[in-house]
Amino acid sequence: MRKTILTGDRPTGPLHLGHYVGSLTQRVALQREHDTYVLIADLQALTDHADAPEQIREHVLEVALDYLAVGLDPAVATIVVQSQVPELAELTFYFLNLVTVARLQRNPTVKDEMRQKGFEADVPAGFLVYPVSQAADIAAFKAHLVPVGDDQLPMIEVAAEIVRRFNRLYPAEAGPALVEPAALLGAVSRLPGTDGGAKMSKTLGNVINLSDPPDIVATRVRGMFTDPHHLRVEDPGTVEGNPVFAYLDAFDPDAGEVARLKERYRAGGLGDSVVKRRLLESLEALLGPIRRRRAEWAQDRAAVERVLAEGTTRGRAVAAATLNEVRRAMRLYGAR
Ligand code: TRP
Repeated sequence: MRKTILTGDRPTGPLHLGHYVGSLTQRVALQREHDTYVLIADLQALTDHADAPEQIREHVLEVALDYLAVGLDPAVATIVVQSQVPELAELTFYFLNLVTVARLQRNPTVKDEMRQKGFEADVPAGFLVYPVSQAADIAAFKAHLVPVGDDQLPMIEVAAEIVRRFNRLYPAEAGPALVEPAALLGAVSRLPGTDGGAKMSKTLGNVINLSDPPDIVATRVRGMFTDPHHLRVEDPGTVEGNPVFAYLDAFDPDAGEVARLKERYRAGGLGDSVVKRRLLESLEALLGPIRRRRAEWAQDRAAVERVLAEGTTRGRAVAAATLNEVRRAMRLYGAR
């Protein structure tokens, strides 16, 4: 049986290399063998940007451009704008009854984000429950697999729990109405920030965006943290926890050469600038074609909007069919 993939991104800014290794490569690799849905999660973006709807609206098109730039093919993958599918909000409301507040408060990713955003005391209710909306996204498309970075594992766990709960509480005649999802991690499930921090994050300013021009990428790479004890070229350096090597592992296609560089770095005698130059070349080999494809699509905004409109129409039909089954399984008044 063909499996269904669903994943998504909040349109709060340009997508970056962390998105690329965590999830985008997987989607592109799998899009032909699976029914692939990719959600631009503008409702989820509102949960921490309620004061900036204009900004989110603009980023919808930017995220779509990033998708097309990395090679998502609208002929096989369906790109859906979340706010245009009201069935997702409806399913979120049913799902909210199937999970406890305590369970949501335990979510480590949400906790991290709350700390980062300084929400501790005054978290918007919508933000606390966004994992429930994400569960609805996944369930409405009956996704089997969700390609994500490892920060999203707690979300998929909650989604699977809610689906199990739903299927147990509301058994349908023809078998369980919803599909229990599983996460699909990439080979590199988390990329550190350019500052060596745990992950790339726009808020922390330690990102390289897929759409950054070459001079910005060069500046970011030159400014990357390395081993702070590697002061002179002759000094032996440390590879573990050194973001430059983490990036080489992720982006340099020649693993043998990376292994040799690590050895030389450890022994001493290999300068940071040489390693960074190598990294910049690898990154440009990846980003050059992405930039070119982005520029092509960007010339025809109407075509991008068509991709979104067609994808959303197709996606909404799928979600609407699931919601009919959901209402029937729940035996809601008037359900058909
Ligand atoms: N929470 C995801 C992120 O911040 C975005 C997202 C929204 C998502 N809906 C989803 C991811 C459904 C996977 C499945 O990147």
